[in-house]
Amino acid sequence: MNSNELFSNDTVNLEVLHQRAFNFRWAAVEDGVIPLTAADPDFPVAEPIVNAIKAYSDKGYFSYAPAEGLMEFKTAIQRWYLTQHNSTISSDKILPLNSAANGLYIVASALLSPNDEVLIPNPVDFLFRKSVENAGGKVVPCMFDAETGWFNLDELKAKCTDKTKALFICNPNNPSGKAIVKEQLNELIEFCKLHDLWLVSDEIWIDIYFNNQLTSVLNEDLVTYSKKIVVSGLSKNFGLAGLRIGYVICQNNDHFDLILKHSHHQTTAGGISSLSQIAGTAALNESLFWLESFRQHLTKMKRITEDFIHEMPFLELVPSEATYVIFPKIVNCSMDSAALVELILREAKVALVPGGRNWFESASEGHLRICFSTSEAVLTEAFNRIRSIQHLIH
Ligand SMILES: Cc1ncc(COP(=O)(O)O)c(C=O)c1O
Repeated sequence: MNSNELFSNDTVNLEVLHQRAFNFRWAAVEDGVIPLTAADPDFPVAEPIVNAIKAYSDKGYFSYAPAEGLMEFKTAIQRWYLTQHNSTISSDKILPLNSAANGLYIVASALLSPNDEVLIPNPVDFLFRKSVENAGGKVVPCMFDAETGWFNLDELKAKCTDKTKALFICNPNNPSGKAIVKEQLNELIEFCKLHDLWLVSDEIWIDIYFNNQLTSVLNEDLVTYSKKIVVSGLSKNFGLAGLRIGYVICQNNDHFDLILKHSHHQTTAGGISSLSQIAGTAALNESLFWLESFRQHLTKMKRITEDFIHEMPFLELVPSEATYVIFPKIVNCSMDSAALVELILREAKVALVPGGRNWFESASEGHLRICFSTSEAVLTEAFNRIRSIQHLIH
């Protein structure tokens, strides 16, 4: 199948999505509402993933998996980072776990003691604040310019105290879709080295780019540093959010042991299911063709979304280079983002995500987030509905 067939209007099965797609999506909104909310694709996953799950299930055994993760999945991640991200990592320093969200929580609890401070980007996904606060830490938001995709290094330096233990980055950034380029990643690594900080990079979006490949913090061309940690997963690149597949990559055995200890995998109180790891292996080893087609489709959906934003007098495009969310500024409008999103939901029956501290930190106020990982038909219908009520927005 070519990309048009894999991501055509007909492939979006709304009947199934209405039953299964929760978290602010089809199964969680009122009938008739189009959710362009949580970043989760509307398309069925790649066929090799479905086949691998069937083949594994056919044998009828679902025994305990190893605490450190299934070797075949760890090897698949290792290969993925080598072939897609120019990064040589060893499989014994990869810990598969139950989602990237879980990875952020585990890493925060492993690295932080109560009242330790963590520098985080502003804006960024709410999971950053939640995971740090859950570990008893304190977040220190630092401006991440949604236009330039860059921090202010002077601000980072000024906010770094003797309590600061880590810099968490989101590369590329949710919600702004901005990626941090090589030279700037090197500056951040040098900054962390100088202040002896952990550098935790959430790279769950790194495979969703449009023109240029993005740079992992583990890329061979970057400055080396043992306190780098990557958190990632397969919810975004392969649409496997419901299987809760994530992983953490460390730089040495002591750091791996620390993360493993805090994961509670060894007591079986935590862990990732074997079936999820089988699915993840098939995704990384056999489904690159699907991801490539998905990127092609998303390129088209992004253009449609940008055209729509240009047309709407109350929105101003903030250009992005990655992710399938877009984060326009609200302009010429007296409503704050929550009120505007509420009006659009009520009058146009389209659900969007507002900016604001609860979602993406304080700098996200005055923006809204649109997810465009759906079919052209669904996206066009959603935008037509908003067009038809735009006279109510001022
Ligand atoms: C930056 C970021 N990290 C983590 C997650 C959560 O991923 P997972 O589904 O693996 O928990 C998301 C989901 O939107 C995200 O945007």
